[in-house]
Amino acid sequence: MKKDLDWGSLGFGYVKTDKRYVSNWKDGAWDDGVLTEDANVVISECAGVLQYCQSCFEGLKAYTTEDGKIVCFRPDLNGERMENTCKRLEMPVFPKERFVQAVIDVVRANADYVPPFGSGATLYIRPYMFGSDAVIGVKPANEYQFRIFVTPVGPYFKGGVKPITIRVTDFDRAAPHGTGHIKAGLNYAMSLHAIMDAHRQGYDENMYLDAATRTYVEETGGANFIFITNDNKLVTPKSDSILPSITRRSLMTVAKDYLGMEAIERPVRFDEVADFAEVGLCGTAAVISPVGKIVDHGKEICVPSGMDDMGPVLKKLYDTLTGIQMGRIEAPKGWIQQIM
Ligand code: PLP
Ligand code: COI
Repeated sequence: MKKDLDWGSLGFGYVKTDKRYVSNWKDGAWDDGVLTEDANVVISECAGVLQYCQSCFEGLKAYTTEDGKIVCFRPDLNGERMENTCKRLEMPVFPKERFVQAVIDVVRANADYVPPFGSGATLYIRPYMFGSDAVIGVKPANEYQFRIFVTPVGPYFKGGVKPITIRVTDFDRAAPHGTGHIKAGLNYAMSLHAIMDAHRQGYDENMYLDAATRTYVEETGGANFIFITNDNKLVTPKSDSILPSITRRSLMTVAKDYLGMEAIERPVRFDEVADFAEVGLCGTAAVISPVGKIVDHGKEICVPSGMDDMGPVLKKLYDTLTGIQMGRIEAPKGWIQQIM
């Protein structure tokens, strides 16, 4: 029986559900892992995560399809990205096959929390890992915990798919040759001041530029950019210091194979941005969130698609992607993992 939640009014927040997955790494190996009702984590006061921020995470979603199945979207790519993240952070790899199985198990165990089809909500899945034993010299922990919880969520930005206003920030998100391309908790810790400052100034998000030259567009704190040109091409920034968004990679395929568009990944100079017809943010949480205005130190760039609605091309991409995710449109092979 579905939980009695007001699905339509959920924001992007935490709702405690019944079960979560836990596996511990000790003496060089992962244990078998269990589902537990205990939502609390008990670790050493000196744990690697608490002292030196040794943590990373992933984010994906489960959906109820029109015909009542529960599915999730490309979990293998999240598993693969977490493997890459762990290698970069000197954390043990949780194998992607086990990752996908744990996602399936934890969603199945919380099926009553998967929002119904058409409710506008989805089940957000948050896998994460942290160093759990004591370290005081600067070095990796010896023990780790991998966990997955789920939480039903609504839109990431208040107002759903209303265009947002962002600003170009003077803060940097990621250094050249740093950790911008992996999903390390530390990338988000250092973005908190920038996002709070943006909110205080009346902006919804930050546009980060490349830290070395401040001439190229990178991404926001939690999503990649996609741009639509006047001649109907999708352009998205190429950079070694942005997160390889699974949504963005999927949208490039959708643009090419479903909508017959050209999709180009290349460095995007900030001074080109004013020439685009539509601007959007894309990610698991953001899905596609349209950007209506970009403010660069007081200078406004008003995106031609305006502040009222998502532009027509982004809307087509949005409808096609969510159609695939919710089973209304046939997916490319391997994109949909059926859960039950
Ligand atoms: N960029 C950043 C910094 C993110 O945190 C996310 C969210 O995961 C994304 C981009 C979008 O990635 P994905 O589409 O894989 O969710
Ligand atoms: C996601 O989209 O899954 C993320 O991790 C982004 C985060 C800002 C919520």
